[in-house]
Amino acid sequence: MTERPLEKPLWEQWADQRATATGERLQKVLALRGWGSRRLCEELIADGRVAVNGEIAVLGRRVDVDTDLVEVDGVPIGVRPDTVYYLLNKPAGVITTASDPQGRPTVVSLVPDEPRVFSVGRLDADTEGLLLLTNDGELANRISHPSHGVEKEYLASVTGNVPSSALHRLREGIELEDGITAPARASQLSPGLLRITIHEGRNRQVRRMCEAIGFPVQRLVRVRIGPLRDASLAPGQWRSLLPDEVRQLAEAVAGAPRSYDRRP
Ligand code: URA
Repeated sequence: MTERPLEKPLWEQWADQRATATGERLQKVLALRGWGSRRLCEELIADGRVAVNGEIAVLGRRVDVDTDLVEVDGVPIGVRPDTVYYLLNKPAGVITTASDPQGRPTVVSLVPDEPRVFSVGRLDADTEGLLLLTNDGELANRISHPSHGVEKEYLASVTGNVPSSALHRLREGIELEDGITAPARASQLSPGLLRITIHEGRNRQVRRMCEAIGFPVQRLVRVRIGPLRDASLAPGQWRSLLPDEVRQLAEAVAGAPRSYDRRP
């Protein structure tokens, strides 16, 4: 006896029909998000690489950008028109939390008020450099998820020349009070100037690693988050990510648990 195919619940069928009849064309939405020309995006769809709400999409599909979850090659794409991504060069003395009892300036006060955004991860008050702010919770979760290993690259200045044995310890993993760190990439660009790349996000991690090898950090600047770099942003300046940068970021975090996996 052949098994009857499982029918979708009625409410899901209605949602599908509504999305097919209304909404924006999927290829247009993808093209706006940096996945290539509309023609190329049509090919992506035809090749079966695009899913809407977990199902492979077909050409002609329209999406509700407010509610549908769109993925390319398993990577969720923020498709809401009010989704923003800001890359900020955080100056020293500005804090990453939303408010500060001591009244210090916060990173959100440096970018537009609306739509409201939050920072992806944190930098210490005295750390400078690149910080991503967005209202795309899905992508933010993925970037922060330790399983992904999105690389963060820092320049750390310390006092004195760091011997290669100490750099080796950073590369091997350092015993800290909250456990051993994953192997870092570490090199000395000039005496006392270290480039350290990690993919964990523990509290004050780079400072604690440098302290553990006997070279406390004097100044710490984050110069890269995954594919994102920008040496032209002055401290306090921000810019919106280019669509292609959003795409690269999404690709960098492909494969993390999807939020709809957790839906009942
Ligand atoms: N590591 C630190 O020690 N501080 C930061 O702000 C970021 C990484």
